[in-house]
Amino acid sequence: MDPIEKTISKPSSMNYLVTHGPGRKTLENITLRPLSMKDLDDVAQIDFSLLGKQRKEYWEDKLERIEELGVPSLAAEIDGKVIGFILSKASDREYGIPENIGCIDTIGVDKEWQGKGISHLLFKEMYSMLKNIGIDTIYVFVDRKQRDLVKFFDKMGFARGDMFNMELKI
Ligand SMILES: CC(C)(COP(=O)(O)OP(=O)(O)OC[C@H]1O[C@@H](n2cnc3c(N)ncnc32)[C@H](O)[C@@H]1OP(=O)(O)O)[C@@H](O)C(=O)NCCC(=O)NCCS
Repeated sequence: MDPIEKTISKPSSMNYLVTHGPGRKTLENITLRPLSMKDLDDVAQIDFSLLGKQRKEYWEDKLERIEELGVPSLAAEIDGKVIGFILSKASDREYGIPENIGCIDTIGVDKEWQGKGISHLLFKEMYSMLKNIGIDTIYVFVDRKQRDLVKFFDKMGFARGDMFNMELKI
């Protein structure tokens, strides 16, 4: 059975029940809503706890330009606290990429809240939004050493595509 049960649907904020744990008996009340500049501290803190690097300026820059991504980015909240987020980009034909392509830019969930279906929920909602605007293929670039991300995207149905990265050290 799908662990995610949609309970209320509003355009700007959606509430979900996520069931997890033994026998899937534990319930969390999660709100998904558009990510915005007011989430800067929470996002930078989650990012720091995951990567061990302080990147507040990077996130400030990114959140300032969030409207340019072509699809809303999402925050997952519990009791008013952001515990996870997802940012994607709908192609605007840059670098010859056709307009039916979407790309997951970043996904992150607070360590304390991992393994409870939060990313699955964020991804499912992002998938629907991308599908609704005509995207038919979603890319993600993952470092193969980040096993958590590789396993997560594998579980979401992603498979190795035809593109691969080439790099030159300078
Ligand atoms: C990868 C990540 C996004 C997964 O988030 P999550 O909320 O724990 O994932 P979910 O609980 O929704 O998992 C969904 C499925 O993915 C799989 N999965 C997720 N994390 C996994 C892991 N570490 N190992 C194996 N499988 C994993 C599980 O199989 C799960 O399916 P299940 O419910 O049938 O077990 C999270 O671990 C994370 O934020 N990692 C760091 C990512 C990062 O560095 N981002 C850049 C900085 S912000």
